[in-house]
Amino acid sequence: MIIAIDGPSGAGKSTLGRMLAHEVGLLYIDTGAMYRAVALAVIEQGISLTDQRAVTGVAKHARVDLAGDPNSLQVKLNGRDITVAIRTAEIGRAASVISTIPEVRRELVYHQREMGTRGSVVLDGRDIGTVVFPDADIKFFLTATPEQRAHRRYDEDRARTNDVSFEATFADINARDERDSTRADSPLAIAEDAVVIDSTELSIEEVFERMVAVVRERQMKEVS
Ligand code: DC
Repeated sequence: MIIAIDGPSGAGKSTLGRMLAHEVGLLYIDTGAMYRAVALAVIEQGISLTDQRAVTGVAKHARVDLAGDPNSLQVKLNGRDITVAIRTAEIGRAASVISTIPEVRRELVYHQREMGTRGSVVLDGRDIGTVVFPDADIKFFLTATPEQRAHRRYDEDRARTNDVSFEATFADINARDERDSTRADSPLAIAEDAVVIDSTELSIEEVFERMVAVVRERQMKEVS
């Protein structure tokens, strides 16, 4: 079974993806972490984010591994643990920039498809239900207002550091929405057959319950 979860930045995709994978007993693949890993490698090598050829070279040679169970997913770059290093706002922005390069996408989509054929998986990203697995068994599109998503991201960041402001987080969310949904290659879009959940007025638990209900319903249909 393949479950696709797409949506804008800060919609709760990775939290819910992990919870759902754990509940249903599937592997969890955070495709955003793969773009973030390439972005980190690009920055560390002193390459400009807009140097398409050089960035593509990094994407081709970087070995990005996702290991562990959904609740303690480890991200590795050429064998080095980068789980924490890729969670900064700077890397998020850089990932959004390099993800506009078609050759970078081609490289990472190839790996995502390969991982999806190894077993039943939950993948979260921007283009999973539209491009990576257009035949996914279940597609979710999670969203919330930019204000709400910025509030959630701000609260998360505040738990780690004092060096954040709501205004900067809100501006970042808006810039990422704009870039991720207007790029020419595989922009963020709602798949025709996606179950759309707007979580602006919902708690994580309420969204989770809805998602589990959809999965159980599909599983029942397959059995009968
Ligand atoms: O989900 P995230 O914030 O970790 O993703 C970081 C960036 O990576 C996001 O702004 C756009 C890009 N991305 C993408 O283009 N396609 C995906 N399937 C996942 C992420």
